[in-house]
Amino acid sequence: MEKNALYRREFSNIVNSMKPSAIDAILKAIGDPEMISFGGGLPNPESFPVDDVKKVFNELISTSGRKMLQYGATEGLRALSVTLAKRMKEQQGISCDPSEIVQTTGSQEALYILGKMLANPGDYVISEAPTYLGAITAFRASGIRMIPVEMDNNGMKMDALRATLKKYPHPKFIYVLPNFQNPTGISMNLERRKELIEIVTEAGIIVLEDDPYGALRFSGTPQPAIKSLDRNNNVIYLGTFSKVLAPGFRLGYAVAPQEIVEKMKMVKQALDLASSTISEYIAEAYLSGGYIDRWLPNVVELYRGKRDLMIKSLEQYLPKNVEFTRPDGGMFIWVTKKGANTDKMLEDAIKKKVLYVVGSEFYPENDNHESMRLNFTYSTDEKLVEGVKRLGKVFENTGN
Ligand SMILES: Cc1ncc(COP(=O)(O)O)c(C=O)c1O
Repeated sequence: MEKNALYRREFSNIVNSMKPSAIDAILKAIGDPEMISFGGGLPNPESFPVDDVKKVFNELISTSGRKMLQYGATEGLRALSVTLAKRMKEQQGISCDPSEIVQTTGSQEALYILGKMLANPGDYVISEAPTYLGAITAFRASGIRMIPVEMDNNGMKMDALRATLKKYPHPKFIYVLPNFQNPTGISMNLERRKELIEIVTEAGIIVLEDDPYGALRFSGTPQPAIKSLDRNNNVIYLGTFSKVLAPGFRLGYAVAPQEIVEKMKMVKQALDLASSTISEYIAEAYLSGGYIDRWLPNVVELYRGKRDLMIKSLEQYLPKNVEFTRPDGGMFIWVTKKGANTDKMLEDAIKKKVLYVVGSEFYPENDNHESMRLNFTYSTDEKLVEGVKRLGKVFENTGN
């Protein structure tokens, strides 16, 4: 047998249905020092509270080192769940008992667990279109079909959702990103959040509310979490420390009814037994010691400046027929040109040493090519302006 043919023969149908994502190419190109990357969803390294983390770690390793280095409970550190429950109540109006929280290895793990747990292969879920690439990947890994619902500047369109539900009445859940959505930066307005709750309460459908960016608001009025409007326990809420502390912690959390929590723990045990106790201990002290509230305003300030600079540069350097979103927070701007094919443009962009993520990656069927996602948080100000200039040239080269 040809070398390695054995392995190819043994791959499962699900693995064979998976394809390399654009993220691989982006992570590779980042290695080029001249490349300006608007590609990854990376926080700015300046946003990491290195000194605070060092201080907290040093204290904890002497007071709790032997506990912090041990395996932890599958649902995570109890003290952290208590702190998170209190904080979510105060800041987001989300009422939950600490026992309704499962800490996960990033919210990415929660997406995978919930897909695995709630759907059989061939089942479908509903999502915004476009939606988070990592969710498409996570759900696809469980053989889930994704049914897209159109969005506009106020988030998922509720008339479109109602129409989709007529055709697809039994989704396993509806996946939404109400705050500064990845990839568009768009937020769902209050009216639609309320209407979504009305729809799912009446139809008995689970909502998966994924909210990594809600705390990164630079302008506009904060909107209540969908979970906070939920009186019937239809909503599962996902949070993460990746964008408000550091992704290296690999720590997220799900807030869900007890029945869901119990099953999530079983699936999580099959995956990794428990998340990192080191991360859980540090995150708990970071929250309860007030470090986060002292530091986060700096991050918001840093990112507000970068958003403003990117918008100004896009206005200055992109042809006038190119449209883009103006998000009130988060990390991304969605750039669209009617009739363009951003997949094809990427080759020219890489030649000019600027990277973006092609919009088609964010559609489950990869069937829309007119947009691209730009990250504005990672680059230095200088590179940000230069990168947009290069992008302007790429658009000019498309010729229309
Ligand atoms: C919408 C969304 N959900 C989930 C994640 C996963 O984040 P993490 O696993 O780092 O918590 C990301 C990361 O970029 C994201 O943008």
